[in-house]
Amino acid sequence: MSGDGRPDRRSSWQALASHAESMRSVHLRDLFDDTGDRFAHFSRHTAGLTLDLSKQRWQPETLSLLLDLARDADVPGAIGRLLNGERVNLSEGRPALHTALRLPEQASLLVEGEDVVPAVHRSLARMEAMVDKLHAGQWRGATGHAIQDVVNLGVGGSDLGPLMVTQALADYRPPEAERIRVHFASTMDGSQLADYLARFQPETTLFVLSSKSFTTIDTLTNARTARDWLFSRLVGNGDGVKRDLIMRQHFIGVSASPDKMNEWGIDPTNQLEFWEWVGGRYSLWGAIGLPIALITGMANFRSLLAGAHAMDCHFREAPLADNLPVLLALAGIWNVNFLDIRAHSILPYDGRLAYFSSYLEQLEMESNGKSVTHDGDVVNYSTCPVLWGQVGPNAQHAFYQLLHQGTQAVACDFIAPLKRYDDVTDPATREHLIDQHRLTLANCFAQSRVLMLGDDAIDDRVERPSYKRYRGNQPSTTVLLDRLTPETLGALIALYEHKVFVQATIWDINPFDQWGVELGKQIAGDTERVLVSGQGVESMDDSSRGLIQALWAAESS
Ligand code: F6P
Repeated sequence: MSGDGRPDRRSSWQALASHAESMRSVHLRDLFDDTGDRFAHFSRHTAGLTLDLSKQRWQPETLSLLLDLARDADVPGAIGRLLNGERVNLSEGRPALHTALRLPEQASLLVEGEDVVPAVHRSLARMEAMVDKLHAGQWRGATGHAIQDVVNLGVGGSDLGPLMVTQALADYRPPEAERIRVHFASTMDGSQLADYLARFQPETTLFVLSSKSFTTIDTLTNARTARDWLFSRLVGNGDGVKRDLIMRQHFIGVSASPDKMNEWGIDPTNQLEFWEWVGGRYSLWGAIGLPIALITGMANFRSLLAGAHAMDCHFREAPLADNLPVLLALAGIWNVNFLDIRAHSILPYDGRLAYFSSYLEQLEMESNGKSVTHDGDVVNYSTCPVLWGQVGPNAQHAFYQLLHQGTQAVACDFIAPLKRYDDVTDPATREHLIDQHRLTLANCFAQSRVLMLGDDAIDDRVERPSYKRYRGNQPSTTVLLDRLTPETLGALIALYEHKVFVQATIWDINPFDQWGVELGKQIAGDTERVLVSGQGVESMDDSSRGLIQALWAAESS
C-alpha cells in the first residue's frame, strides 16, 4: 500500500468528518425516537451470532459514508489478499495465515507455490495422537506413572488464547478427557508455577512449552524452573531416573523454531511445529491450541476451527454492508476517529467468557496499537482505543459507575449467549440456573439500554438531584450467541480477528507485527545485567538508579 493509503486524505473521510459535526450533538435517544426500526436496520445474523449495532451513535447515512470509506480503502481487496496468503505483514515480509489453520482438509491454499493445507492437517493429526495418548493414560512419566497434570508454560498469544478457550468450553469436556487436568503458568515471577510445584507430583506432571519464538524469557525462565524441579525430585530419589528420560516423558514443545526446541532439549517426537506465518496472538487454532484439545477433546477443537472457518467464508463472501467483521470495524472507526471515543470496554455476560476481554486486549491493542503507516509516516489520527473489560455482572459492581456517570465517553461491547442450562439434567438446579441466566440477560439488556437512554430509561418523571442523573448517550454493540458452543466461540473470535484487520486496513497500519514490545525486552535484559553485576547503574537516570539501589538494599538486609 502506498502513501495515498492515508485515510484522512480520502474524500470519504472528509465527508464523514463533516457528517460527524452534525451528529456530535445528537443524543442516541433522539435517534431511536426518529426511527422505529433501528434493530432491523442495524443488526445482522451469521454463523450462530447476532450482531446488534443499533445502539451506536449513527444513522443510515453514517453507515453509508463509512462503507464508502471501506471501499476507498479497498477493504474487499485487502480481505482477498489476507485470505489468499499474500504478504500482508509488510514489516516482516510474510503472510498472516491464521485462517489457513482452520481450512478444511479438502481445501488447498498455495503460498508461494506450496499448498499449506496438508501440513496444517498433518500437524493436527500429530496433536491428536498426543491428546489421545494423554487421555488414554498411555503417556507415562519417567517413573512409569500416567500423566495427570499438564501445565502450559507460555505467555501472550501462547497463553491467552488457550486459557480463554479452555475456560469458555469447559462444559464440553468429554469423558475421555477427565483424567487430565490442564493448568496455565505465564507470569515470569513464577507465582503461578511455584503454586503448582508445591501441589503437583513430579511423577505425573508434564509441561507444554508453548512459544512461537522459543526465545521468550518469561516462558524459558518458567521452563528452567520446571525442569530443575523434575530433575531434583526424580533423579535424586534413588530410582536412577535418567535426565534424558525425564526430558522425553515430561516435556512437549510447541514452536515455529524446531532448532531452538532441539537446543533446549525437547525430544523431536514431542515437538509440535507451526509456521512463521501464524502470528502469536492468532495462534490458538493450531498446535498452540493443544491445551484446548486436551480439555475439550479433538472433535470439539475441530468444531472450534469449523466455526471460525464459517466466519472466514462469510468475511470473504458477504457484501460489505452485510459483513459482520466489516460492520463491527466501521462502528469502531466511527467512534474513535469521528466521535473521539477512545475507550472501549468488553463486557461478556457469561462467566465462561471470563478471559475474553484479556484475550481481546492483546488481539486488539497489540495488533492495532500502532502510529506509523505502512510507508512509515506518523499518523495524525487515532488508531486502536484503550480496551479493557470484565465479566459484565461483576463489572457492574466495579467500573460501571464511570460508564454511567463519569466524564469519559466509552463504547461497550456486550456479549451473551441466548440459551444456557436447558441441558442441565439435575431437576433441583435446572430451573434455578435457567432463571439465573434470564436474570443475567435482563441485566445485559438493561445496562445497554441505560447507557443509551440515561434517565429516560425510567419513565417516572420524578425530578432528581444531579448526583442521581444519568446522561446516557454511551454507544454500545451487543453480540448474541445462539448458545456458547465450540462453533459459535470460533466464529466470535474470528469476528474480532477480522474486525481488527479491517480497521488496520482503513488506518493503513500493519496489525501483524509488534515492534513496540521489543525495546522493553531489550532494556529489561540490560537492566538485569546491571542488577546482577552491579555495573552501569551510575549512567542510568535518577529514578531507575533509586529503584535499583532500593532493591540492593533489600537484598542485603
Ligand atoms: O511480547 C509480545 C509477544 O511477542 C506476543 O506477540 C506473543 O504472543 C508473546 O510475546 C509470546 O511470544 P512467544 O510465543 O514467541 O513466546
